[in-house]
Amino acid sequence: MANPKVDLDLCIGCGVCPEVCPDIFEMQDDGLAHVKQDADKNADCAQEAADSCPVDAIIV
Ligand code: F3S
Repeated sequence: MANPKVDLDLCIGCGVCPEVCPDIFEMQDDGLAHVKQDADKNADCAQEAADSCPVDAIIV
C-alpha cells in the first residue's frame, strides 16, 4: 500500500494535488496540502499528483 506524504516545508499551497487527486489530498487551514484522514491510499492518482506538483513536495 502506498503511503503518500506532503513535505510541508516544500508545499507552496498551489492547490494542484487535491484537484488531481481528491481521494488523497486536501487543502487545510494552514493553506497547505495534507493527506486526508480518510485518504484512499490505494487510489492510483497519488503518482499523478506527485508528478503534477510544481515543487516536488509529494512523496509517494
Ligand atoms: Fe502543495 Fe504541491 Fe500540492 S505545492 S498543494 S503539494 S501540488
